[in-house]
Amino acid sequence: MLVHLPAVLSLDELAIIRVALADAPWADGRLTAGHQSARAKRNLQLPEECQTARTLAELVLRALERNGQFMAAALPRHVFPPLFNRYNEGMEFRLHVDNAIRYRHDSAHRLRTDVSATIFLSNSSDYDGGELVIEDTYGTHTVKLPAGDMVLYPATSLHRVTAVTRGRRDAAFLWVQSMVQDDSERTLLFNLDRAIQDLAHVTPAQSSALLQLTACYHNLVRKWAQM
Ligand code: NI
Repeated sequence: MLVHLPAVLSLDELAIIRVALADAPWADGRLTAGHQSARAKRNLQLPEECQTARTLAELVLRALERNGQFMAAALPRHVFPPLFNRYNEGMEFRLHVDNAIRYRHDSAHRLRTDVSATIFLSNSSDYDGGELVIEDTYGTHTVKLPAGDMVLYPATSLHRVTAVTRGRRDAAFLWVQSMVQDDSERTLLFNLDRAIQDLAHVTPAQSSALLQLTACYHNLVRKWAQM
């Protein structure tokens, strides 16, 4: 399932991030790539351990924590601290799959990547190319979102970032280990949750149908969640 979450970051947060990224210690993105993806990757990335990356990761994590749509769609068990990348003109990331397991540089903590996410930080009008192209079971999807918007997609999918042909594309990216590992189960829960929210606006609060559906939602979470 691909989920588009609008305005995950506020304009104020975007402004803070842009100032910090302007003179950040950008490094070759291949430093953090796996064996296969290192050959496909041509971009810049903020080293995970640098102070700018840590401060901005905290800011993004706080924004995600207050975002109910993110919580409902990803059902996060662990969130890998967001990383930041930059594609200057001519840079791209050819077709690859993300590593199944990520390790934090500063701890023994491991995370299984169930959901991949990109938060767009540059205005779409500031660059050409730089589309995120995702191949899943329903075909190929091309994603280019306004600054502050986020896309969630299954980490099992093959994906790429097309070459930037004008301007510069900055983004934050992260992975989630979900309480519900299976994408089809997670999709079903998200769709059910959204339907219940919609119904709640047009149905009396004491409606027994609404109560039954809510019980179904929670009982499915109980059945599928891994803690
Ligand atoms: Ni990737």
